[in-house]
Amino acid sequence: MQLPAHGSNPDHLFKALGMEPPTKMVDFSVNTNPLGAPRAIKDHWQGWLEEIEDYPDPSALELKKTIAAHEGVAESHLLPGNGASELITLIARYLHGKQVLIIHPAFSEYESACRNENCTISYHIVHPPNWQLEKGALQQKIDAVDAVFFCHPNNPAGVQYDRLTIDWLIDACKQSKTLLVIDEAFYDFASNPVTFIHQAGRSRYLLVLRSLTKMYSIAGLRLGYLAGRAELLARIQISQPHWSINAIALKAGSLCLKDHQHSEDTRAYMTGERKRLFSFFRKNDFLHSPSAVNFYLIRDPSLDDQQELFMYLLRKGLVMRHTYNFPGLEGTWLRAAIKTEAENNLLMGALSEWKQGN
Ligand SMILES: Cc1ncc(COP(=O)(O)O)c(C=O)c1O
Repeated sequence: MQLPAHGSNPDHLFKALGMEPPTKMVDFSVNTNPLGAPRAIKDHWQGWLEEIEDYPDPSALELKKTIAAHEGVAESHLLPGNGASELITLIARYLHGKQVLIIHPAFSEYESACRNENCTISYHIVHPPNWQLEKGALQQKIDAVDAVFFCHPNNPAGVQYDRLTIDWLIDACKQSKTLLVIDEAFYDFASNPVTFIHQAGRSRYLLVLRSLTKMYSIAGLRLGYLAGRAELLARIQISQPHWSINAIALKAGSLCLKDHQHSEDTRAYMTGERKRLFSFFRKNDFLHSPSAVNFYLIRDPSLDDQQELFMYLLRKGLVMRHTYNFPGLEGTWLRAAIKTEAENNLLMGALSEWKQGN
């Protein structure tokens, strides 16, 4: 059976498979913060109603100031966008017709955005269980392209590399005058977040991408930002529609970034749940990726293709993300988000039953 591509749209998945959606379901395919949006967003929501009557500030000045203070980078080194997705589309437009390397497995939108811009795409695939970058082979590929997309920590495995490895990658791209885009959409879920945002303003060959929709659970509002040299950002911004970020997202973004407690609580929660889930997987003979963030890959080693397990869980209303459209994984793993404690317990319960029946 061919499973449809999906992610955060379980009704579409059930419909495409001709299945009646169960009355209760848990969507483990969506990677946003299970603790929800910061309290301050809910408290201010009513007061923002009048914002919808005016055009938003097209230069997003207040938000830029907040991001600059939060990150310790210059405002001129920042470009906010309507979600990281918009910024990926703008980067792809800037790269129109160029040679692009994607370090896979990774977020599928780098490829679709670059294909839309007639870029020539090549892959460098990292493999489980150690997800090594294989520097020699990667160096050769970097030398042959104009740009590299690197998701760090990577989606779908959640792997976070050590600083030295990424420093090597940044340097290798700089030496060969290749633009490196590091997507840090999930970096702040790690107990020890690793970021390269401070280097982006100093190099013509480095862009760092961030999303606010994951940590602050505002996927419906859409907000992200890009860090890099001012001249490079200006060229990327040329294609951005005027008033691209709505007025409420501008307000909400500033509040989110000021709420340090929310991200600290989230990191502490994730650390505890990762420990609990991973110890259950080890005891029950499931393999998992060494994720540092809020999602992970899991597989039953007795199966090569995980479709049977995917369907088993789906029938119980537990929606995992299959990996057929992730180069390098091709259905041999399932991705799951870390959800609330009760939801994670449901998954562990279903996985125990699966093992008992197999
Ligand atoms: C790695 C990665 N980068 C960027 C995005 C897009 O994020 P946003 O919601 O800010 O557009 C996603 C969304 O799933 C993602 O997984």
